[in-house]
Amino acid sequence: MADTGSIVVLVSGSGTNLQALIDAAADPAYGVRIAAVGADRDDIEALLRAQRGGIPTFVCRTGDFATRADWDVALAARVAAYRPRLVVLAGFMKLTGEAFLGQFGGRTVNTHPALSPSFPGVHGPQEALDYGVKVTGCTLFVVDAGVDTGPIVAQRVVNVQDDDTVQTLHERIKTAERQMLVDYVGRMVRDGFTVTQRKVTIS
Ligand code: GRF
Repeated sequence: MADTGSIVVLVSGSGTNLQALIDAAADPAYGVRIAAVGADRDDIEALLRAQRGGIPTFVCRTGDFATRADWDVALAARVAAYRPRLVVLAGFMKLTGEAFLGQFGGRTVNTHPALSPSFPGVHGPQEALDYGVKVTGCTLFVVDAGVDTGPIVAQRVVNVQDDDTVQTLHERIKTAERQMLVDYVGRMVRDGFTVTQRKVTIS
């Protein structure tokens, strides 16, 4: 049975999206409790942000397991220990596998720095610039077995400027991404949601 209002956040990097959730969750009216933050690597700013916020952390490294499937089973078990209502991948740079999705499929969301279905994968801002699009943005989606292919919860549009570099563009996307994440994670946890085929509806 899931713990009402609780989420587990998985991270791999600087954790600015995580920080936005930590800041929002400081207000009881937000209705979300971050039960734990998990990572696939040590020594990242995101884990320090969690520790500074007094949130339990764990690390589950692929290199510590014989196979990727074993890692996936272990990750699912670490997350399950906190009985989250929702799992949030916030800059988590690994694909979750069959065991993880068997347990948390339909209640795991991820944020992607492009307007899906454009530019899936890890180079969204770079590929948007290279393609010459005039608008890009970010997408919050319910994770499925594909790469950034799951049912879309929300999207935000960001204009591409003539003098953008990949860094300036990604920073503006991340600003939009943090607002989108805080807004929709709160709504999904407080109000519940359904996924019918590809359509996500917040109750
Ligand atoms: C975000 O743009 C996320 O979509 C992408 O990596 C970035 C993570 O940023 N996968 P942060 O670690 O939350 O600062």
